[in-house]
Amino acid sequence: MAQNPLEAALAAPQSPGILDRRLVIVTGKGGTGKTCVVAALALAAARAGKRVLVVETGLGEAVPPLLSPGASPVGYAGRELQPGLTALHIEPYEALAEYVGLQFGMRAMTDLVFRNAAFRQLMDASPGWRELITLGKIWHLREQERFDLVVVDAPATGHGITFLDVPRVVISAVRAGPLRRHASWVEDMVQSPDETLLLPVALAEELPARETAELVTRLREDVGVAVDRVVVNAVARSPLPPGAPDLAARLARLPAQLDCGGLPAPPVLAACLGHAVSRAELNRHYRDLIGRETGLPVVELPYLDGGVSGPDDLERLARALVEPPVRIAAESTS
Ligand SMILES: Nc1ncnc2c1ncn2[C@@H]1O[C@H](COP(=O)(O)OP(=O)(O)OP(=O)(O)O)[C@@H](O)[C@H]1O
Ligand SMILES: [Mg+2]
Repeated sequence: MAQNPLEAALAAPQSPGILDRRLVIVTGKGGTGKTCVVAALALAAARAGKRVLVVETGLGEAVPPLLSPGASPVGYAGRELQPGLTALHIEPYEALAEYVGLQFGMRAMTDLVFRNAAFRQLMDASPGWRELITLGKIWHLREQERFDLVVVDAPATGHGITFLDVPRVVISAVRAGPLRRHASWVEDMVQSPDETLLLPVALAEELPARETAELVTRLREDVGVAVDRVVVNAVARSPLPPGAPDLAARLARLPAQLDCGGLPAPPVLAACLGHAVSRAELNRHYRDLIGRETGLPVVELPYLDGGVSGPDDLERLARALVEPPVRIAAESTS
């Protein structure tokens, strides 16, 4: 029997909210604000009473100083930075030593082997193991159920796809044995839409719109991971109050010599205002383009003057991150 629209809406499976997943993997081009989004999301989750773990996978640690200025590194063992919020940094060789130690119960010996320069040279030339071992460690942390939510600061894309692709490559190359079994556990985790979310972060600029759309398509089709929103970061807002859209033009019409009480002359003020307004308009245009090209609802994060330097800035991003994403309407053709 046909359902009416309300019945259909109630019966439709609801996509879980951003804080309802067990694993959120944040990715995007270099410098788009991934680390800030990771830290802000972790903060939002901790505020909501979740036990949250931040996992960094890059070369250094960027999250602890953001969440807790002056904090010493958290390392592979990890540390609670504030109540309910723990961070750790996955170093692939440490993860490999732990894995081999767990598999074969020879931790002391594997530590010795892994410190050997020739072994490291061999491993450095081998593709894929870092990604697999890192994802395996994330799987293991998630399985322990010590945390409600794990937020991963994934490598910048380009590398980001490879990161999630590796389990599938291993499964297609290895027919049986523990490696295949472990790779398929990791793949199941990545492809579990109710538990795992891939969160792309983009800037509202010209190139990212197309690049992000391509990334989302490849992630969905090749990797099979859920992507239900895109974060558009650092969107500048217009400094004009509502109802004063022509302020710059009116300033520009004032006599250039007018005494503005110590402020720059009207043409200079007009140029500053005009610049800020057109930047906001451009950002809004590309935000909408990203939403349309990806076909995803958008989470808009504000541009913060002076960058993101500590907990107060993160709080502002955290509030915006948990807002329901906004679907951008198709462009009017009239
Ligand atoms: N909403 C924002 N407003 C203003 N500045 C921002 C915003 N988000 C991030 N930034 C700034 O942009 C820079 C890059 O941010 P971040 O380190 O989070 O990017 P990333 O994607 O993790 O970079 P990488 O690829 O190098 O790891 C930082 O200086 C940060 O302070
Ligand atoms: Mg980063």
